Amino acid sequence: MTNNRNQGKVLTLVVLISGSGSNLQSIIDAIAAGTVNARIAAVISNRTDAYGLERAANAGIETIVEPHQQYSDRKQYDQVLARHVDSFSPELIILAGFMRILSPWFVTRYSGKILNIHPSLLPKYKGTNTHQRVIDAGETEHGASVHLVTEQLDGGPIVIQARVPVERDDDVESLRKKVLEQEHLIYPEAIKLFAQGRVRTE
Ligand code: GAR
Repeated sequence: MTNNRNQGKVLTLVVLISGSGSNLQSIIDAIAAGTVNARIAAVISNRTDAYGLERAANAGIETIVEPHQQYSDRKQYDQVLARHVDSFSPELIILAGFMRILSPWFVTRYSGKILNIHPSLLPKYKGTNTHQRVIDAGETEHGASVHLVTEQLDGGPIVIQARVPVERDDDVESLRKKVLEQEHLIYPEAIKLFAQGRVRTE
């Protein structure tokens, strides 16, 4: 935090995860290094076994687990989620491998204030299993995108993208690794742009 003192206002983030949290880690590290002028107020997971919860705890960040199974409909869960989010008054919500579709209600409530990272060169390969689909289609290029979240699944305005070549001997695992490496660079960069007021929809 001390590194950020001279860079103006610190952006407050809440990060939503479901799994490993390697993107979360890249954001934690970028903040610690002083390259992103932000503070993670809380990490919220819909899964109790998400390794990202450990990463957050190790960094001294408050964690909340809110399993979705006990809620019968999406909006009901999202209302509970919003109560957690609002208790930290974040200026930006970061979806970092949060594997749930958010309701239109939630997305509208935080319009222009939710970023997501997706493992493809959007608008290509929305949805799941992107690496396998890229291989099956014989693509020579793949990548990752950070975008603002709208009601269109994986369809919001793109903030930043990174490309990787698809080699003949690539499989799902090697592609996943290559793409993740790029994700860890572009997600902190996108948050930095947002913190600098350089991300807006027109
Ligand atoms: C990342 O590859 C991210 O792009 C993807 O989940 C992974 C999470 O990894 N997200 C999606 O597919 C969202 N549709 P992480 O938990 O190690 O950050």
